[in-house]
Amino acid sequence: MSNPVTLNVADHSLELPVKDGSIGPSVVDIGKLYAQSGMFTYDPGFTSTASCESKITYIDGDEGVLLYRGFPIDQLAEHGDFLETCYLLLYGELPTASQRTDFNYRVTRHTMVHEQMMRFFQGFRRDAHPMSVMVASVGALSAFYHDSTDIADENQRMIASMRMIAKFPTLAAMAYKYSIGQPFVYPQNDLDYTSNFLRMCFAVPCEEYKVNPVLSRALDRIFILHADHEQNASTSTVRLAGSSGANPFACIAAGVACLWGPAHGGANEAALKMLQEIGTVDRIPEFIARAKDKNDPFRLMGFGHRVYKNYDPRAKIMQKTAHEVLNELGIKDDPLLDIAVELERIALSDPYFIEKKLYPNVDFYSGITLKAMGFPTSMFTALFALARTVGWIAQWKEMIEDPSQKIGRPRQLYTGSPKRDYVPSHMR
Ligand code: SDX
Repeated sequence: MSNPVTLNVADHSLELPVKDGSIGPSVVDIGKLYAQSGMFTYDPGFTSTASCESKITYIDGDEGVLLYRGFPIDQLAEHGDFLETCYLLLYGELPTASQRTDFNYRVTRHTMVHEQMMRFFQGFRRDAHPMSVMVASVGALSAFYHDSTDIADENQRMIASMRMIAKFPTLAAMAYKYSIGQPFVYPQNDLDYTSNFLRMCFAVPCEEYKVNPVLSRALDRIFILHADHEQNASTSTVRLAGSSGANPFACIAAGVACLWGPAHGGANEAALKMLQEIGTVDRIPEFIARAKDKNDPFRLMGFGHRVYKNYDPRAKIMQKTAHEVLNELGIKDDPLLDIAVELERIALSDPYFIEKKLYPNVDFYSGITLKAMGFPTSMFTALFALARTVGWIAQWKEMIEDPSQKIGRPRQLYTGSPKRDYVPSHMR
């Protein structure tokens, strides 16, 4: 146990306890600071703030380390599959063969959505962004599954978790099919999770659809890479929504909404659009200059990270997966990949990016891979959300099951007008 820290406040000093983690930075417990000092701490972007205690995911941004329940992401991506990762994140251990069979069966039994859910889609324009459809349809699940919304009931929490993990791919595939005017494809329970998703997206009633095992394995690995990531913006959103006692479907819908932003999960869509805007390798210097120009809001999408000040370990695996998929599809020279590889090479040798520790993140290469698989750019963030659903659910369950949990209610630094009296309109 580390020694407490002393804070000198006006004419007295406070001792604040320090809590140590199993690995990583210790924390100063400031829970009693306001009561003892009349002051708040101030950290708007939470750059130095631990919002909770968690046992799920650990990131070392300086070393480029990402662990799910202690297992390195590269080992899970290499040797495991996405549903095994879901089990690990939810239960804390890798499943035995029988646990894995039972878990896969439980997820598979929940892949269908209520038939009336289809009516929601009819209300959207065909060109609605898939994330607008996902925010709406995930939240709407709470209107259909009242037997799994009592968060105080452990069994209901687990059923809701299974339903979210199982139904998200079905809803995401429906959003895609609706956007291209093709009929919805029902899940097929003799397929594995990711193959089922690919079939729901790309099968048509007119012919047999054969899943390409290389593409299914690659997408399954992409889902593993995106499954969880400590207290990122969307996970923090899910935790805050859940702290009020909102039902799990509403909390996940809040996470979907937050992930949509281009600074977060929307970056994979933005990164591919950026590569398309750059267009050719010889225009890269122009965009590098813009990214460095303080007067230009342009940023290199897919670069930089709040935590990783070294290479995002997921980006390395994403790059390898991009090459694997392009080779499998016989795409020898994808100009976007050439631009991405050259952009990375130039950026990583540029003093600006070195000094600010800006490296490619998980979103930099994912778009190239997903586009090659046949997904439209607008679906990229929905795929990120599909994978992150298990992380959101695991973090939400951990918070609900934490006996010290209370509603999240931050304070503020008020710099507005002091108290003043009402001015009648004729005197303004
Ligand atoms: C994800 O948190 C997570 O874990 C998220 C995620 C997950 O799995 O959940 O990993 C997924 O969201 C990955 C990030 C995807 N976003 C992008 O690729 C968008 C582009 N990146 C940036 O917007 C930015 O890097 C952030 C938002 C990711 C991080 O921003 P920070 O930590 O708040 O850093 P900052 O904005 O304060 O930038 C620090 C400096 C600034 O320069 P100065 O003001 O200090 O002079 O670096 C510069 C920034 O201008 N900078 C960039 C840049 N990112 C930061 N300059 C050019 N291009 C960039 N991409």
